Amino acid sequence: MSEPAKPVKIALFGPGTVGTQVVRLLTENRGDLEQRVGAPIEIAGIYVRDTSAPRDAVIDPALLTSDAHALIDDADLVVELIGGIEPARSFMLESIGAGAAVVTANKALLAAHGPELFEAADAANVDLYFEAAVAGAIPIIRPVRESLAGDHVKRILGIVNGTTNYVLDQMTTNALDYDVAVKQAQDLGYAEADPTADVEGHDAAAKAAILASLAFHQRVHLDDVYCEGITAITADDVAAAAEAGHVIKLLAIVERTAQGVTAKVHPALVPLEHPLAGVHGAFNAVFVEAEAAGELMFYGQGAGGTPTASAVLGDIVSAARHIAQGGRGPRESHYADLPVLPIEASNSRFQLRMIVHDEPGVLAGIASTLAQRGVSIEAVRQKAASADTGLATIVISTHRAPEADVAKVLDALRASDAVTEIRSVLRIEGE
Ligand code: NDP
Ligand code: HSE
Repeated sequence: MSEPAKPVKIALFGPGTVGTQVVRLLTENRGDLEQRVGAPIEIAGIYVRDTSAPRDAVIDPALLTSDAHALIDDADLVVELIGGIEPARSFMLESIGAGAAVVTANKALLAAHGPELFEAADAANVDLYFEAAVAGAIPIIRPVRESLAGDHVKRILGIVNGTTNYVLDQMTTNALDYDVAVKQAQDLGYAEADPTADVEGHDAAAKAAILASLAFHQRVHLDDVYCEGITAITADDVAAAAEAGHVIKLLAIVERTAQGVTAKVHPALVPLEHPLAGVHGAFNAVFVEAEAAGELMFYGQGAGGTPTASAVLGDIVSAARHIAQGGRGPRESHYADLPVLPIEASNSRFQLRMIVHDEPGVLAGIASTLAQRGVSIEAVRQKAASADTGLATIVISTHRAPEADVAKVLDALRASDAVTEIRSVLRIEGE
């Protein structure tokens, strides 16, 4: 008779929004999960700073410990759901050093310290899984890291932040002002009390760094990602976008060109026909363009305790299978050695909306300002002037142009007497 399989001992760090749901699902679905792993699974303990603080009823007080080192020593698999850089980084390195596999949802840590963690995992020959770090419940890490490993990913466009998608969607569909929409996102629990990381684009930038690193087999650090949030978007911008058949979305865009790799996060005008335009509320979606596979779209819930716990549980099963049955998940792949380019080196289509004096020669002067800097106009719209001000609104869409050239056009327009104000400069994507 064969020996009964040894249990896989799991330690959880951070029983918060996601961690609590991981514990609940691990407990409720234990029988099924053990069948899928091929061995018994056991929660060895849950690390907290204060064992006497009140907790959700699914957290068994007997499992709580504030002795992180003893818990790590006892575990085969450590699930890090604290978030942020420290102490999460130190706990993960200690766990890997002790021979435990690690599962995390921590995009901030991976985008800033990924190479250190991957190198440690490779040296210790343990798994490091992080499906929940990008777009919550949506399987996107495995598809990019494994399913598309035989293809060439050319570009990824992602709505990877639920809070900002909710805010922009409310501004579009219910004509809410920015501040009102943010307040509503906070009341519904999408946005944090301090929503800075979401609305300034930092959360999406961390996800862009992770996606670019995986898609292009190239280390891309958070600092390499150009980042512009949604705080400057007005109800006026949203209305103007709708008039031109667009919606405004905060996009994470990572692209491989002949020159290298670019990674950026910014609000963009997306045509209504594009699949990303139909992503409403706090939902996320990731649109992948690959050489052989063509276009792929991944859609679902990008945040929330239970959806995110689903992705964490998938990683736990994968890592636990390897612990019980042998084998290892994919190592970091960063052989490509491509330059990571600044935003100035990338090309975009732009829409420039400006207030001008409604006088002869003004439009010709603006057209010549663009032409002299090599920026080609695709379309021009002018709104009738208001008789009492003598001003008009001009909206110019450009063909794809280098960011650096468009920056020179904007400098020249700002210095021009004919232009009283540049109301907005938005990139157009997905056409
Ligand atoms: P929470 O803030 O809800 O929970 C964090 C947990 O970590 C709490 O239990 C907290 O304990 C504990 N913790 C915080 N700081 C420390 C510390 N210094 N030492 C020890 N424990 C600490 O976070 P979430 O559950 O929302 O997020 C967890 C991770 O999942 C993050 O990396 C996040 O980016 C990621 N994620 C979250 C999503 C979501 O929708 N919430 C979606 C996708 C990813 P205490 O209660 O004692 O403060
Ligand atoms: N704050 C993030 C969002 C949570 O709004 O999408 C998931 O990272």
